Amino acid sequence: MLPATIEWEDGKLRLLDQRLLPRRTEYAVCESAEDTARAIENMTVRGAPAIGVAAAYGLVLALKNEDFAEAAERLAATRPTAVNLFWAIKRMRELWLENRNKDNGELYLIMENEALTIHNEDIEINKSIGRFGASILPDRGAAITHCNAGALATAGYGTALGVFRAAAEAGKRIRIYADETRPRLQGGLLTAYELQQDGFDVTVITDSMAAFLMSRVKIDAVVTGADRVAMNGDAANKIGTYGLAIAAKRHGVSFYIAAPLSTFDAECACGADIPIEERCGDEVRAIGGVCVIPEEIKVWNPAFDVTPNELITGIITERGIIRAPYAENIEKFFRGGNNRNEK
Ligand code: MRU
Repeated sequence: MLPATIEWEDGKLRLLDQRLLPRRTEYAVCESAEDTARAIENMTVRGAPAIGVAAAYGLVLALKNEDFAEAAERLAATRPTAVNLFWAIKRMRELWLENRNKDNGELYLIMENEALTIHNEDIEINKSIGRFGASILPDRGAAITHCNAGALATAGYGTALGVFRAAAEAGKRIRIYADETRPRLQGGLLTAYELQQDGFDVTVITDSMAAFLMSRVKIDAVVTGADRVAMNGDAANKIGTYGLAIAAKRHGVSFYIAAPLSTFDAECACGADIPIEERCGDEVRAIGGVCVIPEEIKVWNPAFDVTPNELITGIITERGIIRAPYAENIEKFFRGGNNRNEK
């Protein structure tokens, strides 16, 4: 069985150390907001919804003996792209502002309860995304996913992998191809492990094989997660997603993003407004700790890319699937006008 990604136990945050999977199952224990910020930075915990949940607990830990406002700023400075992180910090900060004059014990319980709610809500949201998303898949077929948008990237169940889980629960048999996802190999290490644990038929390919795979094997859909969706439907996700969407378009394969509404950013009109994290070049230079390119060579290592809305067949959310025209339909969705399961 898949170990839990995030646990809250006796006032401490336990994070499944994803840097060690699938070889070892170990938990890192965070006792402060600073511990939590480091765990997000060094990718002990990763995936947009999961870092949001971790940050919410980090702000509960901050109440013990850190300055709350500074802790919130520290957590917000860890990773720039996934908007769920900022969403969770804002939600916790607003509650703290409302209640900070209460006595410490009461404030702690209110904040702890909110973090637990964010944690539990995320699992329910993913299940709902899964139910809507399962409708896009045939009874028997094949799909490609990129990076890890599964239980490991969320509080549980997953977004893109939640769609596959819900399809399986509905009796559908979908073979999954997992892009390896250079440079950090979240697909090869995490998605393959997660799907294998749940008994899926999963095959790993390198990222560069996806287009050729689509030319040779009938692929019914590509389903990935997202780290931030702009108001026009442009979506940031793990580097390589954009290329996969182009390949899908070329081969007439549907390309879906599965993401909770907390991944949409009202401040970003389009993809160009989304900040893209650039990580250390050593992630590209080395594989398994061994340098694989000449030393001194320059490396560019953006952690995410942006898929333009015209390549996206639909965005699967917990309230239904949003389709083009995106700017208009996303606006309607947020006004609460659309609550349907569109096929
Ligand atoms: O750098 P990571 O591993 O945090 O990137 C994760 C992704 O890109 C996921 O696809 C995204 O966060 C969605 S997770 C449900």
